[in-house]
Amino acid sequence: MSETTVAVPGRVRPRRLRRNQVIRDLAAETHIAPSQFIVPHFVLAARKSERPIPSMPGIAELGLDNLLGRVASDLDLGIRSVLLFGHPDHEGHKTPDGLTAWADDGAVQRAVRRLRVEFGDDLVVMTDVCLCAYTDHGHCGIVDDGDVVNDASLVPLVRTALSHAEAGADVVAPSDMMDGRVAAIRDALDEAGHEQVILLAYAVKYASGYYGPFRDAADSAPSFGDRRSYQMDPRNVREAVREAELDEQEGADMLMVKPALAYLDVIRAVRRASNLPLAAYNVSGEYAAVKAAAANGWLDEAQIVRENLMAMRRAGADRIITYHARDAIEGGWL
Ligand code: PBG
Ligand code: ZN
Repeated sequence: MSETTVAVPGRVRPRRLRRNQVIRDLAAETHIAPSQFIVPHFVLAARKSERPIPSMPGIAELGLDNLLGRVASDLDLGIRSVLLFGHPDHEGHKTPDGLTAWADDGAVQRAVRRLRVEFGDDLVVMTDVCLCAYTDHGHCGIVDDGDVVNDASLVPLVRTALSHAEAGADVVAPSDMMDGRVAAIRDALDEAGHEQVILLAYAVKYASGYYGPFRDAADSAPSFGDRRSYQMDPRNVREAVREAELDEQEGADMLMVKPALAYLDVIRAVRRASNLPLAAYNVSGEYAAVKAAAANGWLDEAQIVRENLMAMRRAGADRIITYHARDAIEGGWL
């Protein structure tokens, strides 16, 4: 071998950029700021209440006062966006059409109003728009003869989005996966004078086993069948791009891919296909899996959470909806 070929490996040394922490930080390609997190909250109608969710250690359903306290301390950490979920206070309040979803005095609507008054423009208030926690059958739309029918489902979804906007939500986020709901909600918002309300579309939402813990918390599991006639097939990625393009054409301001970790290729594909801001939803089952393994001492929580969140950012997500946000910031895991 000649001297020059021997010398090449000595000249090119990727390890120079990994020598110590400051140099690694200098070379780092991916960062996460607290303002990129969106934190989900499960809202209870009661004023003072904190109901832990067994399959999501560290997460509880919160009454309005508890929610206010939590949001205030999260703001101190730099977390500026929340995504609110609710369900009716009493069993009997679930109906075939989910009408308590758009009740003016519903837990979500009341929480939005209070957060608005309390934090004004320091906080971005987002709401999940869906029916599954409010329908007696647990599906995300209207059921007719065993089918979740599309167009009839748009009416209650639009009403729900309007009630959130009316309460003062900055962002409404439909998660139902009915066709045409982005256009229907956008038109209704504009007609009602809410042209400034932002529409974050759950554009790409898979029929996933990773929603299990959430469904326990929101009490929103379907009583028959499953969601595969409206949520996406995990085998598909071209379809994800199609869904994203349609929602953009229909007037979505931001897009979401959900879940995150098993769908990093999908995040990348949607990132390439659209210039809209893109959020990844690091869902309940992804959180529960990490928590369970960490509780057993099988994985290092700090390291795993950091790795997972960085993967979502690397794949192309601008924003991350995650239950880990608070721990990750407080623990200095990022
Ligand atoms: C309701 C909804 C679900 C989630 C967000 N909105 C559950 C589902 O579609 O069954 C999942 C969130 C999570 O698992 O963290 N449509
Ligand atoms: Zn739903």
